[in-house]
Amino acid sequence: MSNMKVLVIGGGGREHAIVWALRRSSRVNELVCAPGNAGIAQIATCVPVQQSSLQDLLRVVAEQQPDLTVIGPELPLSLGLVDELRQRGLRVFGPTKDAAQLETSKAFAKEFMQRHQIPTAHYAVCDSFQEATDALKLFHAPLVVKADGLAAGKGVVICQTKDEALAAAQGIFDGMLLGVADRKLVLEEFLEGEEVSFLVLCDGKHVAPLVPAQDHKRIGEGDTGPNTGGMGAYSTDDLLDPAMSDWLIAHVAQPVVDGMAAEGAPFTGILYCGLMMTARGPMVLEFNTRFGDPETQAVLMRLDSDILDMLLAASPSPGEPGGVGGIEMRWKPGASACIIAASAGYPGSYTPGRAITGLDAAAQVAGAVVFHSGTATADGACVTAGGRVLGVTAAAPTLQQALSLAYQALGKIHFEGMQYRRDIGHRALK
Ligand code: AMP
Ligand code: GLY
Repeated sequence: MSNMKVLVIGGGGREHAIVWALRRSSRVNELVCAPGNAGIAQIATCVPVQQSSLQDLLRVVAEQQPDLTVIGPELPLSLGLVDELRQRGLRVFGPTKDAAQLETSKAFAKEFMQRHQIPTAHYAVCDSFQEATDALKLFHAPLVVKADGLAAGKGVVICQTKDEALAAAQGIFDGMLLGVADRKLVLEEFLEGEEVSFLVLCDGKHVAPLVPAQDHKRIGEGDTGPNTGGMGAYSTDDLLDPAMSDWLIAHVAQPVVDGMAAEGAPFTGILYCGLMMTARGPMVLEFNTRFGDPETQAVLMRLDSDILDMLLAASPSPGEPGGVGGIEMRWKPGASACIIAASAGYPGSYTPGRAITGLDAAAQVAGAVVFHSGTATADGACVTAGGRVLGVTAAAPTLQQALSLAYQALGKIHFEGMQYRRDIGHRALK
């Protein structure tokens, strides 16, 4: 298919990177993003949408009539946007609501992994505070308490003592932790090791791996302080050797896709396997059912082939069955890195509307691209509009060089209260 119109749903750094990659496809001639942000607006048409409203999302698709809709964030997936679009005969990249349960319910994901012998930490699913109190007796500290539902990276509490775990459980059930009460939680064994984000493209039957990446979830340097959506990421081939990548396909990714198909919810789109490489071998910490943010900014900087091939292969439609086995994904050798610039106060509350300067100077740094995460245009100027504001990203032959380019570009940018980690990639450089 050529001369395509593509609609991307979302408005963060991940979507900016996806739109940026689609811009380079010779077969895409119209690119729309809903709602987008100030950076995306420079390379695509942005249209407003309320992402928490299925009706509004459907309105935008009906108005735009794209040949392909690409869904960036988890919220529209959890609302069943893919199901609705497929029922209308439309081509869409992403999993159905049932398939997205791998991300939208941690209890579902854990029980699914148990049913299909996929390696993961020991756990208990609890439906009440009393159940959590009883189950806690079977665990040792430190341990991890996780809210069942979507929580934008804030639903996981690492607890050094059982008292802390009880407090976290209380906070999940009474709504103090996330602002809304959850009806379920997962208690989990604490795992130690290196984390790797292993993303695979899925067509419902087959999987094809992307290059691996590593996220930096904590706000503070040296991995301290509270969890965030991700403060930076890098990608190198060294993160996973080919034998380990094959092992992960055979023991994690393919069993997930086979298991979901066998359970009547074939998985299409991106399966993001968040792994802990432990002394007992790799274990799944979580699944996401979409591209990661900021991993996508780093990973797509290394993509050397047409992203449209990937997206279409994983978006089967009646006339065109797709198939991720039939495409070639080419990657630049070497490395890439993405550094997030965040608002003061993030991951807590922050003040939006701060003027951002230096974006033009940063764009002059060869090899670097500034992806916008949370920005808006006010009186013709670019201002902050989110906790995570920018993802300054670069690719180069070595990680050291990629980091140095990204930090050089970031050094040109300023907004009041800007915070970023100076140690992205530190584990690989050790
Ligand atoms: P999740 O959203 O489940 O990936 O959890 C967010 C982060 O919490 C992960 O990226 C890990 O850094 C940490 N985490 C989650 N589960 C565990 C665990 N069982 N042991 C140690 N750290 C964990
Ligand atoms: N970077 C982690 C995520 O996208 O959930």
